[in-house]
Amino acid sequence: MSAPADFNDRMLSLGLARVSEAAAMASARLIGRGDEQAADQAAVNAMRAQLNRLDIQGVVVIGEGERDEAPMLYIGEQVGTGNGPPVDIALDPLEGTTLTAKDMPNALTVIAMGPRGSMLHAPDVYMDKLAVGPGYPAGVVTLDMSPAERVRALAAARGCSPANITVCALERPRHEQMITELRRTDCAIRLITDGDVAGVMHCAEESTGIDMYMGLGGAPEGVLAAAALKCMGGQMFGRLVFRNREEWGRAAQAGITNPDRIYTRDDMVTGDVIFAATGVTDGSILSGIRREVGTLTAETILMRSKTGSVRRMTYRNPRQATDDGVSGR
Ligand code: FBP
Repeated sequence: MSAPADFNDRMLSLGLARVSEAAAMASARLIGRGDEQAADQAAVNAMRAQLNRLDIQGVVVIGEGERDEAPMLYIGEQVGTGNGPPVDIALDPLEGTTLTAKDMPNALTVIAMGPRGSMLHAPDVYMDKLAVGPGYPAGVVTLDMSPAERVRALAAARGCSPANITVCALERPRHEQMITELRRTDCAIRLITDGDVAGVMHCAEESTGIDMYMGLGGAPEGVLAAAALKCMGGQMFGRLVFRNREEWGRAAQAGITNPDRIYTRDDMVTGDVIFAATGVTDGSILSGIRREVGTLTAETILMRSKTGSVRRMTYRNPRQATDDGVSGR
């Protein structure tokens, strides 16, 4: 599906950057304070307030959860002034709540917007994910290959040995077997404790040194990562993983009919999207919020899939620091 003419992504993109900046600024005073819930809530409040200032008829399709479990930014919530184009929104006001609470790297605020119907309504289940950056032939790696086969295939496509490939994965007991198999290929593995949206984005940024992302993480985060890669270039595949009947029931309710389907990046995000992420803690893609006496500074990456444009913006706000009672550290 291509974007309808009235999805004014060019003008809306700057508004979207403000939304992710506001969420990051709001969670700044909770970095390293050990309170995941408070950090998430601060980001949610700020993101929602900014979203509601945008001239859009927005619907949250990937959000904080179902209406009965999330009072704000729940799936199906209408946001915006109601005076603009009908758009779908995928968001994670704080991707990496634990990373924020513990002041660990790569916590982000993340939001993507596209025309109505442009993003997969992924239920809150796991997704088996596989991603590589731009420049490889289509299907160079697939979910049906074993982890070792993927490393060898990517190395062959790059013309290097498997020892020169770096894979990123979440450090989880469920990945033990995958990691053991990967180790046998002699590739390097960057294990992350949380934050697989950033993990997938790493594949499209040469400077991170990551060539491939794989493993199970949240399906909503999978759609957000697909939106990012649609702007940055690169391939991504995802298969939903259901651990019980209840999870499958939720997926069926969300309109999923084939439990085994493999979604490509463009199946997850079918139209042109805009994507914004702001660093909360320092990471490989974005600097985190800088707190200096009297000011807060945030770095945002803002991208449009239609043009492939990538902007990096630094935002400094002296008032915010006073309002939040943040002093330097
Ligand atoms: P939060 O934003 O809720 O902190 O999620 C972080 C995250 O690491 C995601 O990036 C990832 O997709 C998911 O949690 C993994 O889930 P689990 O912790 O159950 O392995």
